Amino acid sequence: MARFTLPRDLYHGKGSVEILKTLKGKKAIVCVGGGSMKKFGFLDKVVSYLEEAGMEVKLFEGIEPDPSVDTVMKGAAVMQEFEPDWIVAMGGGSPIDAAKAMWIKYEYPEITFEEMCKVFGIPELRQKARFVAIPSTSGTATEVTAFSVITDYEKGIKYPLADFEITPDIAIVDSELAETMPKKLVAHTGMDAMTHAVEAYVSTCNCDYTDPLALHAISMIDEHLVDSYNGDNGARERMHNAQCLAGMAFSNALLGIVHSMAHKTGAAFDDFGAHIIHGAANAMYLPKVIEFNAKVESAAKRYAKIADFIGLGGETVADKVENLIQYLRGMNDKLNIPQCIKNYGADSYYAEQGFVPEEVFLERLPEIAKNAVGDACTGSNPRQPSVEEMEKLFKCCYYDLRVDF
Ligand SMILES: NC(=O)c1ccc[n+]([C@@H]2O[C@H](COP(=O)([O-])OP(=O)(O)OC[C@H]3O[C@@H](n4cnc5c(N)ncnc54)[C@H](O)[C@@H]3O)[C@@H](O)[C@H]2O)c1
Ligand SMILES: [Zn+2]
Repeated sequence: MARFTLPRDLYHGKGSVEILKTLKGKKAIVCVGGGSMKKFGFLDKVVSYLEEAGMEVKLFEGIEPDPSVDTVMKGAAVMQEFEPDWIVAMGGGSPIDAAKAMWIKYEYPEITFEEMCKVFGIPELRQKARFVAIPSTSGTATEVTAFSVITDYEKGIKYPLADFEITPDIAIVDSELAETMPKKLVAHTGMDAMTHAVEAYVSTCNCDYTDPLALHAISMIDEHLVDSYNGDNGARERMHNAQCLAGMAFSNALLGIVHSMAHKTGAAFDDFGAHIIHGAANAMYLPKVIEFNAKVESAAKRYAKIADFIGLGGETVADKVENLIQYLRGMNDKLNIPQCIKNYGADSYYAEQGFVPEEVFLERLPEIAKNAVGDACTGSNPRQPSVEEMEKLFKCCYYDLRVDF
């Protein structure tokens, strides 16, 4: 038996945040990030709609990108005091993910972060509050997923929390919020969405319910991401929907080792002054992982189907897989994303020598590889890597080498 779960309601289209006016409840807490939602007037809009619904509204502001365990605990404490019956999270993946984790701690004040990390082990929520998610980036699709990614900065590791309990009750996919994204954010979140769809399609948990979502998302991203990056608002609206479809696919089919690797490298070199941004990490690692996974015949056939679906050409399965790899590298070029960690500058753009020094990378590699193999996303990857293989794969991602093992 398998399960397929999505939010009970999804509202989409420009201006759809207005639906908040119709929520029934007494108190809502609005969780947001560092200021973009306030600056562009979306926060005021959301607050006024909730007030129109007759609710007392409290704000929890300033959730940082790649939110920490600390922030989660602070937000949960505010919720325990305020006792909201709605949690409304808006912004990028970071504030929405943080709010999901706060929700667990709010409902179960005794729970530890370690207990929250137990995959599909979260206790029954909705005893105190229900959850609305309003994304402002077009990538993570956390508004429809059963996941939340929280960073433990002491360990320098990202932990994915996973359970259908944290799938939001209501998702509002209003593309007006995505119109203010700077180009770089469009590129990174767009390639995150592409990675979600590709990993879901080849995941060992793929099924008839997730395949159409994944394939349609890939073709929409193929058609619209570069135009959205270049400022076309129509394309940006389609990307907002595409990333959500990809999310519906991967929330139910799970992901693979591109994400395992991105989770374990994102914060691993913070002491050198930068993060490897989630979507950029995925964009660099995806072509390498395809080459690695394609050594398994069933996975290769699925990559070939993707290549066929978006018309990349090729005679044999091997040709098609190669065309898909080259196509994704071409996307990175069009979106100004480097091809490997060595060339990943602190500003996320190409640099001859990026911010991660070679000797530091090599010194930390065994630990990072071990952690990546142990990541929650590894289990559904079509090929199970050993720690040694993971080290080799990471070297390919650092130096931009072909994967011949
Ligand atoms: N829960 C999931 O299923 C899932 C899936 C993939 C990734 N993630 C996680 O999500 C996080 C990344 O989320 P993200 O990529 O959405 O970025 P983000 O939430 O970290 O935001 C990045 C920056 O963009 C700004 N921003 C957001 N929306 C904007 C807008 N419309 N206009 C202008 N600026 C805007 C934010 O203020 C922030 O500074 C990572 O921690 C990643 O691991 C979660
Ligand atoms: Zn992702």
